[in-house]
Amino acid sequence: MGIFSSSTRQVPEAAAVPRHVAVIMDGNGRWAKKRFLPRVAGHVKGVELVREMVRACLERGIQYLTLFAFSSENWRRPADEVSLLMQLFVKALEQEVEKLDRNGVRLRVIGDLSAFEPRLQSLIRQAENKTAGNTRLDLNIAANYGGRWDIMQALNKMLAAQPERREGWGEADLEPYLSMHFAPEPDLFIRTGGEERISNFLLWQLAYTELYFTPTLWPDFDTAEFDKAIASYGQRERRFGRTSEQLTEKPNA
Ligand code: IPE
Ligand code: IPE
Ligand code: MG
Repeated sequence: MGIFSSSTRQVPEAAAVPRHVAVIMDGNGRWAKKRFLPRVAGHVKGVELVREMVRACLERGIQYLTLFAFSSENWRRPADEVSLLMQLFVKALEQEVEKLDRNGVRLRVIGDLSAFEPRLQSLIRQAENKTAGNTRLDLNIAANYGGRWDIMQALNKMLAAQPERREGWGEADLEPYLSMHFAPEPDLFIRTGGEERISNFLLWQLAYTELYFTPTLWPDFDTAEFDKAIASYGQRERRFGRTSEQLTEKPNA
């Protein structure tokens, strides 16, 4: 069934715990506002919740965690908020990578990194290299990421790799160039903060992902909230176009 263990090509084994969780961490600003704090206080608290989420994934045997930290559209925010977010990113890389490494976490940053200042780019490269041999958990941070950007950059690379080819392209030709080529498609997508939209996150990869939306703001999304999302996932029947009966007869037919 193709060389990729892509969830839209194969029906994954039914499992109570998702293999790959993708999260839009939304609601930091509103969390701060409710407390009469500046928005950045929400982002600071948000980083703490990332730490808790990574721990929870390690404990639960989740293999891939992909977090939307900064979208290609977030540059539209006020300059001081953007700058504070960048500083937080730098600080998190400086302070957390050692511990991630000790815990067997492999870190990757996906997105158009060329827009970041050189220091941040080099911290990202260092963190990726340092953790490249780790296999317990793949932690992917989407920064200056956009789903459409991802598809277009992959398309450009695909075409450049075979300039003489004119036709017959298929999904499998494109997939190796997508930012998340190394991972199976997300099983569970979580968006906190109450909005029910994708906001240009993983457009290609979410085709058959189970979606979970919660009004809980990201800084309040603790392990108990995460377990609620996983429990909801555990109740879903993933049919991938098939009938319910087919699934119970032959799960991987
Ligand atoms: C998500 O929280 C974090 C980023 C987008 C960086 P928000 O900052 O979007 O918080 P709200 O949506 O304004 O509450
Ligand atoms: C999505 O949140 C991006 C991240 C969480 C990084 P936004 O707060 O930017 O999304 P919109 O603008 O409400 O769709
Ligand atoms: Mg938001």
